[in-house]
Amino acid sequence: MRMTERTLIIIKPDGIQRRLVGEIIQRFENKAAKIVAAKFMQVPEELSRKVYAVHKGKPFFEPLTKLLSSSPVLVIVWEARNVIDITRKIIGATSGFEAQMGTIRGDFSCSTRYNLVHSSDSPESAEYEINLFFRPDEIVDYELTDEKWLYCEND
Ligand code: CMP
Repeated sequence: MRMTERTLIIIKPDGIQRRLVGEIIQRFENKAAKIVAAKFMQVPEELSRKVYAVHKGKPFFEPLTKLLSSSPVLVIVWEARNVIDITRKIIGATSGFEAQMGTIRGDFSCSTRYNLVHSSDSPESAEYEINLFFRPDEIVDYELTDEKWLYCEND
């Protein structure tokens, strides 16, 4: 059986400015991801630098962190079986030009920087990134009633 996991996604400033919040959330819900925490916020630059710490030293680090702090974002923790892999497939490749049509970036982004959504890329980064934005008591444990219609015993 696939593991129930949590991941963090950030609808970045360009996603908010382009009014794509509903469209983006819908795609994760379509694939049975469940919201367990959410925050609409302006990200302080210090926090942006922590989110993107793995990219420190790369030429795009400064513009990337400045962009994340330039305008509000929506940060969401999603829970589902295999959700880290699923969200990355839904979002698509980093560049909007490379991303497959049908993915969020493939359908809406024409840029590497303005690529609308960030998501954790591994269980370790999910834990690190969730902890940057949420205290444990801000994450809600609850059941949705459709699970028996989503998964079978071999999943
Ligand atoms: P994201 O998924 O938020 O994680 C790291 C971000 O760095 C990535 O999306 C892009 O927005 C950005 N990024 C990665 N590679 C480049 C690049 N070559 N030039 C500019 N930005 C980049």
